[in-house]
Amino acid sequence: MKILLMGPPGAGKGSQSEKLVKDYELTNISTGEMFREAYRNNSPLGIEAMRYINKGELVSDEITNEIVRKRLLRSDAERCFLLDGYPRTVAQAEALDKMLEKMQSKLNAVINIVVDKQAILERMVGRRVCKSCGSTYHLSFKPPRVDGVCDSCGGELYQREDDQLDSVKNRLEIYETKTKPIIDYYSKRGILRNVDGMQSFDAVYKDIKQALGEVI
Ligand code: AP5
Ligand code: MG
Repeated sequence: MKILLMGPPGAGKGSQSEKLVKDYELTNISTGEMFREAYRNNSPLGIEAMRYINKGELVSDEITNEIVRKRLLRSDAERCFLLDGYPRTVAQAEALDKMLEKMQSKLNAVINIVVDKQAILERMVGRRVCKSCGSTYHLSFKPPRVDGVCDSCGGELYQREDDQLDSVKNRLEIYETKTKPIIDYYSKRGILRNVDGMQSFDAVYKDIKQALGEVI
Protein backbone atom coordinates (compact mmCIF):
# COMPACT_ATOMS: atom_id res chain seq x y z
CA MET A 1 0.00 0.00 0.00
CA LYS A 2 1.47 3.36 -1.06
CA ILE A 3 -0.34 6.35 0.28
CA LEU A 4 0.11 10.09 0.06
CA LEU A 5 -1.40 12.23 2.82
CA MET A 6 -1.76 15.85 1.81
CA GLY A 7 -3.41 19.04 3.03
CA PRO A 8 -2.44 22.54 4.12
CA PRO A 9 0.11 23.11 6.90
CA GLY A 10 -1.48 22.28 10.25
CA ALA A 11 -4.26 20.19 8.68
CA GLY A 12 -3.40 17.18 10.82
CA LYS A 13 -1.23 15.13 8.44
CA GLY A 14 1.35 14.29 11.09
CA SER A 15 -1.29 13.50 13.73
CA GLN A 16 -3.18 11.14 11.44
CA SER A 17 -0.06 9.51 10.05
CA GLU A 18 1.05 8.52 13.57
CA LYS A 19 -1.97 6.19 13.73
CA LEU A 20 -2.04 5.13 10.09
CA VAL A 21 1.54 3.86 10.04
CA LYS A 22 0.85 1.69 13.09
CA ASP A 23 -2.49 0.28 11.95
CA TYR A 24 -1.44 -0.41 8.33
CA GLU A 25 2.24 -1.14 9.08
CA LEU A 26 3.50 1.56 6.74
CA THR A 27 6.90 3.21 6.56
CA ASN A 28 6.43 6.86 7.43
CA ILE A 29 8.17 9.27 5.06
CA SER A 30 7.70 12.88 6.16
CA THR A 31 10.01 15.32 4.40
CA GLY A 32 9.44 17.95 7.12
CA GLU A 33 10.45 15.40 9.77
CA MET A 34 13.48 14.30 7.72
CA PHE A 35 14.68 17.90 7.44
CA ARG A 36 14.16 18.52 11.18
CA GLU A 37 16.05 15.32 12.01
CA ALA A 38 18.92 16.30 9.70
CA TYR A 39 19.04 19.64 11.51
CA ARG A 40 19.09 17.97 14.94
CA ASN A 41 22.02 15.87 13.70
CA ASN A 42 23.84 19.02 12.60
CA SER A 43 24.14 17.81 9.01
CA PRO A 44 24.89 20.47 6.35
CA LEU A 45 21.67 19.53 4.55
CA GLY A 46 19.64 20.05 7.73
CA ILE A 47 21.24 23.42 8.44
CA GLU A 48 20.68 24.57 4.83
CA ALA A 49 17.04 23.34 4.86
CA MET A 50 16.24 25.02 8.19
CA ARG A 51 17.11 28.43 6.73
CA TYR A 52 14.08 28.07 4.45
CA ILE A 53 11.84 26.18 6.88
CA ASN A 54 12.05 28.78 9.65
CA LYS A 55 10.91 31.49 7.24
CA GLY A 56 8.05 29.30 6.06
CA GLU A 57 9.54 28.86 2.59
CA LEU A 58 9.88 25.62 0.67
CA VAL A 59 13.20 23.83 0.46
CA SER A 60 14.28 23.54 -3.21
CA ASP A 61 12.77 20.79 -5.35
CA GLU A 62 16.27 19.55 -6.12
CA ILE A 63 17.25 18.96 -2.48
CA THR A 64 13.84 17.56 -1.54
CA ASN A 65 13.58 15.16 -4.49
CA GLU A 66 17.04 13.85 -3.74
CA ILE A 67 16.34 13.00 -0.08
CA VAL A 68 13.09 11.27 -1.05
CA ARG A 69 14.78 9.35 -3.87
CA LYS A 70 17.38 8.02 -1.44
CA ARG A 71 14.75 7.23 1.19
CA LEU A 72 12.61 5.26 -1.26
CA LEU A 73 15.57 3.06 -2.14
CA ARG A 74 15.77 1.70 1.40
CA SER A 75 14.29 -1.77 1.81
CA ASP A 76 11.59 -0.71 4.31
CA ALA A 77 9.99 1.50 1.63
CA GLU A 78 9.75 -1.25 -0.96
CA ARG A 79 6.24 -2.48 -0.20
CA CYS A 80 4.31 -0.01 1.92
CA PHE A 81 4.81 3.64 2.72
CA LEU A 82 2.98 6.77 3.74
CA LEU A 83 4.21 10.06 2.31
CA ASP A 84 3.46 13.12 4.45
CA GLY A 85 4.31 16.55 3.06
CA TYR A 86 5.81 15.33 -0.22
CA PRO A 87 5.20 16.13 -3.05
CA ARG A 88 4.46 19.79 -2.45
CA THR A 89 4.92 21.17 -5.98
CA VAL A 90 3.89 19.87 -9.38
CA ALA A 91 7.59 19.44 -10.24
CA GLN A 92 7.97 17.19 -7.16
CA ALA A 93 4.86 15.19 -8.13
CA GLU A 94 6.39 14.60 -11.58
CA ALA A 95 9.73 13.62 -10.04
CA LEU A 96 7.96 11.18 -7.70
CA ASP A 97 6.18 9.57 -10.64
CA LYS A 98 9.52 8.98 -12.31
CA MET A 99 11.04 7.50 -9.12
CA LEU A 100 8.10 5.14 -8.67
CA GLU A 101 8.12 4.17 -12.34
CA LYS A 102 11.75 3.11 -11.98
CA MET A 103 10.73 0.98 -8.99
CA GLN A 104 7.85 -0.43 -11.11
CA SER A 105 5.48 0.94 -8.55
CA LYS A 106 2.81 3.62 -8.13
CA LEU A 107 0.70 5.46 -5.55
CA ASN A 108 -2.52 3.67 -4.60
CA ALA A 109 -4.27 6.51 -2.81
CA VAL A 110 -4.02 10.23 -2.15
CA ILE A 111 -5.88 11.54 0.89
CA ASN A 112 -6.41 15.29 1.01
CA ILE A 113 -7.33 16.66 4.46
CA VAL A 114 -9.47 19.78 4.08
CA VAL A 115 -9.38 22.39 6.88
CA ASP A 116 -10.34 26.06 6.94
CA LYS A 117 -7.85 28.87 7.49
CA GLN A 118 -8.96 29.92 10.98
CA ALA A 119 -8.62 26.37 12.29
CA ILE A 120 -5.16 26.07 10.74
CA LEU A 121 -3.98 29.17 12.60
CA GLU A 122 -5.38 27.89 15.92
CA ARG A 123 -3.87 24.46 15.40
CA MET A 124 -0.40 25.71 14.58
CA VAL A 125 -0.16 28.32 17.29
CA GLY A 126 -1.11 25.74 19.98
CA ARG A 127 1.00 22.90 18.60
CA ARG A 128 3.80 21.39 20.70
CA VAL A 129 6.14 18.68 19.44
CA CYS A 130 8.35 16.19 21.29
CA LYS A 131 12.07 16.90 20.86
CA SER A 132 12.92 13.21 21.12
CA CYS A 133 10.24 11.21 19.29
CA GLY A 134 8.40 13.88 17.26
CA SER A 135 4.94 13.12 18.73
CA THR A 136 2.53 16.02 18.27
CA TYR A 137 0.32 17.68 20.90
CA HIS A 138 -1.92 20.72 21.12
CA LEU A 139 -2.26 22.91 24.21
CA SER A 140 -6.08 22.83 23.99
CA PHE A 141 -7.08 20.01 21.62
CA LYS A 142 -4.60 17.33 22.65
CA PRO A 143 -2.75 18.37 25.80
CA PRO A 144 -0.05 16.08 27.22
CA ARG A 145 -0.81 14.47 30.61
CA VAL A 146 2.06 16.44 32.21
CA ASP A 147 2.71 19.99 31.06
CA GLY A 148 5.66 20.15 28.62
CA VAL A 149 6.37 16.39 28.76
CA CYS A 150 5.72 13.82 26.03
CA ASP A 151 3.21 11.08 27.01
CA SER A 152 4.95 8.50 24.83
CA CYS A 153 8.63 8.89 25.71
CA GLY A 154 8.93 11.53 28.46
CA GLY A 155 10.80 13.86 26.09
CA GLU A 156 10.64 17.64 26.28
CA LEU A 157 7.94 19.39 24.22
CA TYR A 158 8.80 22.50 22.18
CA GLN A 159 7.17 24.93 19.79
CA ARG A 160 8.39 24.73 16.20
CA GLU A 161 10.12 27.92 15.02
CA ASP A 162 7.98 27.87 11.83
CA ASP A 163 4.79 27.97 13.94
CA GLN A 164 5.36 31.71 14.56
CA LEU A 165 2.63 33.77 12.91
CA ASP A 166 4.81 35.26 10.12
CA SER A 167 6.05 31.85 8.98
CA VAL A 168 2.57 30.38 9.22
CA LYS A 169 1.17 33.11 6.94
CA ASN A 170 3.97 32.49 4.44
CA ARG A 171 3.36 28.74 4.48
CA LEU A 172 -0.33 29.24 3.84
CA GLU A 173 0.37 31.49 0.87
CA ILE A 174 2.86 29.04 -0.59
CA TYR A 175 0.37 26.22 -0.07
CA GLU A 176 -2.23 28.10 -2.14
CA THR A 177 0.09 28.87 -5.06
CA LYS A 178 2.50 25.93 -5.20
CA THR A 179 0.90 22.94 -3.48
CA LYS A 180 -2.81 23.20 -4.25
CA PRO A 181 -2.30 22.52 -7.99
CA ILE A 182 -1.26 18.98 -7.05
CA ILE A 183 -4.85 18.24 -6.00
CA ASP A 184 -5.83 18.52 -9.65
CA TYR A 185 -2.82 16.47 -10.72
CA TYR A 186 -3.97 13.49 -8.65
CA SER A 187 -7.74 13.87 -8.90
CA LYS A 188 -7.45 13.41 -12.68
CA ARG A 189 -6.15 9.92 -11.91
CA GLY A 190 -9.16 9.03 -9.77
CA ILE A 191 -7.08 8.11 -6.71
CA LEU A 192 -7.67 11.28 -4.67
CA ARG A 193 -10.23 11.49 -1.87
CA ASN A 194 -11.02 14.61 0.16
CA VAL A 195 -11.52 14.12 3.89
CA ASP A 196 -13.15 16.70 6.16
CA GLY A 197 -10.44 17.70 8.63
CA MET A 198 -12.76 19.96 10.65
CA GLN A 199 -13.76 17.12 12.95
CA SER A 200 -12.33 15.38 16.00
CA PHE A 201 -9.07 13.41 15.60
CA ASP A 202 -11.00 10.11 15.69
CA ALA A 203 -13.67 11.20 13.23
CA VAL A 204 -11.03 12.34 10.72
CA TYR A 205 -9.23 9.04 11.15
CA LYS A 206 -12.43 7.06 10.57
CA ASP A 207 -13.07 8.98 7.33
CA ILE A 208 -9.51 8.42 6.13
CA LYS A 209 -9.89 4.69 6.65
CA GLN A 210 -13.17 4.71 4.78
CA ALA A 211 -11.64 6.70 1.90
CA LEU A 212 -8.72 4.26 1.71
CA GLY A 213 -11.21 1.41 1.49
CA GLU A 214 -12.78 3.07 -1.57
CA VAL A 215 -9.59 3.42 -3.59
CA ILE A 216 -7.44 0.47 -2.56
P1 AP5 B 1 6.04 19.88 7.46
O1 AP5 B 1 6.62 19.42 8.70
O2 AP5 B 1 5.53 18.91 6.48
O3 AP5 B 1 4.95 20.99 7.79
P2 AP5 B 1 3.52 21.33 7.17
O4 AP5 B 1 3.08 20.71 5.90
O5 AP5 B 1 3.52 22.77 7.18
O6 AP5 B 1 2.56 20.63 8.09
P3 AP5 B 1 2.58 20.64 9.62
O7 AP5 B 1 3.53 19.60 10.11
O8 AP5 B 1 2.74 22.04 10.08
O9 AP5 B 1 1.07 20.23 9.93
P4 AP5 B 1 0.36 18.82 9.90
O10 AP5 B 1 -0.60 18.77 8.77
O11 AP5 B 1 1.33 17.69 10.02
O12 AP5 B 1 -0.50 18.97 11.22
P5 AP5 B 1 -0.31 18.31 12.68
O13 AP5 B 1 -0.76 16.90 12.65
O14 AP5 B 1 1.02 18.61 13.24
O15 AP5 B 1 7.10 20.81 6.69
C1 AP5 B 1 7.79 21.82 7.37
C2 AP5 B 1 8.60 22.62 6.39
O16 AP5 B 1 9.59 21.77 5.76
C3 AP5 B 1 7.83 23.23 5.21
O17 AP5 B 1 7.22 24.45 5.54
C4 AP5 B 1 8.96 23.39 4.18
O18 AP5 B 1 9.76 24.50 4.48
C5 AP5 B 1 9.79 22.13 4.41
N1 AP5 B 1 9.32 21.03 3.55
C6 AP5 B 1 8.72 19.89 3.94
N2 AP5 B 1 8.40 19.12 2.89
C7 AP5 B 1 8.80 19.82 1.80
C8 AP5 B 1 8.71 19.57 0.41
N3 AP5 B 1 8.12 18.47 -0.07
N4 AP5 B 1 9.21 20.51 -0.44
C9 AP5 B 1 9.81 21.61 0.01
N5 AP5 B 1 9.91 21.92 1.32
C10 AP5 B 1 9.41 21.03 2.21
O19 AP5 B 1 -1.44 19.14 13.46
C11 AP5 B 1 -1.29 20.51 13.74
C12 AP5 B 1 -1.84 20.82 15.14
O20 AP5 B 1 -3.26 20.65 15.12
C13 AP5 B 1 -1.31 19.88 16.24
O21 AP5 B 1 -1.11 20.60 17.40
C14 AP5 B 1 -2.44 18.84 16.41
O22 AP5 B 1 -2.48 18.36 17.72
C15 AP5 B 1 -3.67 19.67 16.07
N6 AP5 B 1 -4.71 18.88 15.39
C16 AP5 B 1 -4.53 18.01 14.36
N7 AP5 B 1 -5.72 17.45 13.99
C17 AP5 B 1 -6.66 18.01 14.81
C18 AP5 B 1 -8.08 17.84 14.94
N8 AP5 B 1 -8.75 16.99 14.17
N9 AP5 B 1 -8.73 18.57 15.89
C19 AP5 B 1 -8.04 19.43 16.71
N10 AP5 B 1 -6.69 19.63 16.64
C20 AP5 B 1 -6.01 18.93 15.69
MG1 MG C 1 3.44 17.53 10.00
